[in-house]
Amino acid sequence: MTSKYQIKNIDLSPQGDNAIYLAESRMPTLSKIKRRFEKEKPLKGVTIGACLHVTKETGVLAQTLKAGGAKFVLCGSNPLSTQDDVAAALVKEGFNVYAWRNNDSEYYNCINSVLDHKPDILIDDGADLIVIAHKEKSTLLEKIIGGQEETTTGVNRLRVMYEKKALNIPVIAVNDAFLKTMFDNRYGTGQGVVSAISALNILFAGKNVVVAGYGPCSWGMATRARGLGANVIVTEVNPMKALEAVMDGYRVLPMEKAVLEADMVFTSTGCKDVVVGKHFEKMKDGAILANLGHFNIEISVKDLEKMSSKKKRVREYVDEYTFSDGKRLYLLGEGRLANLVILGGHPSEIMDLSFSVQALTAEFLVTNRGKLENKVYTVPDEIDKEIAKVKLETMNIQIDSLTEDQEAYIKSFEIGT
Ligand SMILES: NC(=O)c1ccc[n+]([C@@H]2O[C@H](COP(=O)([O-])OP(=O)(O)OC[C@H]3O[C@@H](n4cnc5c(N)ncnc54)[C@H](O)[C@@H]3O)[C@@H](O)[C@H]2O)c1
Repeated sequence: MTSKYQIKNIDLSPQGDNAIYLAESRMPTLSKIKRRFEKEKPLKGVTIGACLHVTKETGVLAQTLKAGGAKFVLCGSNPLSTQDDVAAALVKEGFNVYAWRNNDSEYYNCINSVLDHKPDILIDDGADLIVIAHKEKSTLLEKIIGGQEETTTGVNRLRVMYEKKALNIPVIAVNDAFLKTMFDNRYGTGQGVVSAISALNILFAGKNVVVAGYGPCSWGMATRARGLGANVIVTEVNPMKALEAVMDGYRVLPMEKAVLEADMVFTSTGCKDVVVGKHFEKMKDGAILANLGHFNIEISVKDLEKMSSKKKRVREYVDEYTFSDGKRLYLLGEGRLANLVILGGHPSEIMDLSFSVQALTAEFLVTNRGKLENKVYTVPDEIDKEIAKVKLETMNIQIDSLTEDQEAYIKSFEIGT
């Protein structure tokens, strides 16, 4: 029998309540969806199992889905990203939560506890929940209406599952919605990481900052670092993305050359072994390493442990590795998503968009129950457009609309030069 919850300390709930309350005040789009859900109850009778970063914004999503009539059950999508006060506040509100910061050894048990509630919808961030449901609880799959995936790495994993004919539920790639990738990954990650580094009182101006990859997350990181006066170097494996970085005005180098100059290295590729022993050997004394990608595989912590002669935690989530020649390298957040570990994630205004997409996607799955195939779908355009419209309204920003004549023109081919 699964326990109702497993968290660090229920007494932290008042602090968590305040955090969720403040987050909601900056999430007007999701709040509007919540008010409609309260009236219409589109998710009535549906159990939603979620594996997400347990942050204050996730708290607002939980309340929204509950307002829609769903039972919401939650575990953390990373052992180091759970905000224990938020987990406590959600349990006080009656949610089943299985998450606490540093639950490394019990991470998969927490996922299994969520699946024990026999969810109808799986909301995932990184695809661990959906993969475990397939591997260990496959009898559940028949009942599942569909899954929703929050991040690039998760969507990549699920697409591979589909290609290998191993995906047995429909999944919506929430990550790929315009309002998710182009805002959350792009603006959220950049600002989140810069704030996390700034919270450590580390200067960007004049520093050589290496950004691995030039996808939306790295784009955000590179842009923000440059804005603070850093000299940014990009590394890539995709010639088109490398060219984009060049035309955006960055130097592009292979990692082996880039590390020679690096004061800070940020990885955000979704790939493994991006910075490893041969790079650590060449790095300068005092250089900082941080990963923004979903899994802790981009910077080889194993090589750092093996090659260094001393490791010291110099402040929370900052580890100093000293090599035999006296050189020191600093690893942030144990190589896990630095912005989530150190700062607590993206700004609420950004998660307002991502989690509005999640809420409307859950409604879409229920409305289309039984009609979807077992493959990875993109989010319907109307969902993206509706959320953008509401967000603009909450920001008091008006835009133009097409006249009938213009509308007819763009749908015609007859008129040319
Ligand atoms: N930290 C956060 O809060 C946060 C937010 C959103 C997404 N993510 C995660 O960040 C990662 C990146 O997301 P994205 O949307 O930018 O992904 P993306 O796939 O669009 O971009 C990744 C880029 O890295 C490049 N790349 C791949 N392997 C490389 C290597 N070995 N060296 C150099 N470049 C390489 C790819 O060519 C690609 O251009 C993913 O793991 C994603 O899940 C983190």
